[in-house]
Order: sequence, then C-alpha cells, then structure tokens
Amino acid sequence: MLILVLIVLGYLIGSIPSALIVGKIGYGVDIREHGSGNLGGTNTFRTLGKKAGIIVLTADILKGVLAAALPYLSGAGYEYALVAGIPAVLGHCYPVFAGFRGGKAVATSAGVLLFITPIGVLTAVVVFLMTLYLSKWVSLSSILAAVWVHTFEIIWGGKLMSFVTFALVLFIIYAHRQNIERILNGSERKVTWI
Ligand code: G3P
Repeated sequence: MLILVLIVLGYLIGSIPSALIVGKIGYGVDIREHGSGNLGGTNTFRTLGKKAGIIVLTADILKGVLAAALPYLSGAGYEYALVAGIPAVLGHCYPVFAGFRGGKAVATSAGVLLFITPIGVLTAVVVFLMTLYLSKWVSLSSILAAVWVHTFEIIWGGKLMSFVTFALVLFIIYAHRQNIERILNGSERKVTWI
C-alpha cells in the first residue's frame, strides 16, 4: 500500500508543470506555444529570459529531490528513493496537470539522482557545462551529461543504479529525438550567452 502511495505521490509531484505555471502566472505566456514548445527550463529561458528560466530549472530539480526524499521522510527508508523518483520523472514528462505534454526528463532526473548519487550528478554538471561551452546546444549537453552519470554508475555504483541510469539515458535520448534530428540537419537552436 505504501509503495502505491509513493508511486502516485511521486507522479503527482513530477506532474506540477513549473514552466507552464511560471509562464502563465508570471508573464501571461503559454510556453508550449513558443520556442521548442517544451515545458522545461531551457525553453523558459529561451522564451522568457534568465530569471524565469532559473526559477523553472530550480523548481524542476526540486520536484525530483522532493520525490526521491519522500520515502525517506515517510519512514520507508532511503532505499525506496527510486519508487517515488521514477514516477516523478514520468510525471514531469507526461504531466496529468498539463495534458500529458511536459519536459524532457533532464532536470527532474537530476533532482532524483542528486538525492541518490550526488557526486555522479555534480560531475555531470561539469560535463554539461563543458559540452555547452563547446557546442552551444543544451540538448546535446543534457544527453552527454546523462551518459556520464550512467558511466559513473557503471564504474562506482551498483547494478541497480547502472540499470536505472541506462534506462534513463535511453529515455532521455528518446525525449530528445527531435533535437537530435535538428542537430543533424543543422537547425537546432544554440544558446548565445555562453
Ligand atoms: O532538457 C531539455 C533540453 O535538453 C532541450 O530543451 O527546449 O531545446 O528542446 P529544448
């Protein structure tokens, strides 16, 4: 019963559409009608600027941290972090509160993994920033950061986390399939501020 509650709560937390809320309440803009149409920090940054982008990115990461910490807070134990964490990532991508059209898994996954494997995530931020500096593509930086976390878990983590991060990499690549297409045909948007 507790596991079911954790799954549902994790999904509901992940489903909170931060980008939609910040866009609509703060700026009167539906972020889904602008830029890539993605409900995430990058598209918010692109459409509404730095302040809104940072708020959404932080909120999306915090959704993951909160979902992963939920089992611990409810006394179920640290080892249940993924039980609510994975549904939170799915909620972020397929939010019940926003017509099942959300983000691309990166920020909320980072939040969940930050709770479980902080060094893996913090080193992934370095991979992300280096890739962003060289390529100017957030999407490629996100994918390579996810690949790094998986590599980190293969080397220093256990079997479960290697499997989970492998599934996450596949899912993140799937979520970025249009970005990959655009990178290949040269039309992917680049950031200009780095
Ligand atoms: O995490 C999303 C990011 O990697 C790409 O976002 O808006 O450029 O599709 P976007």
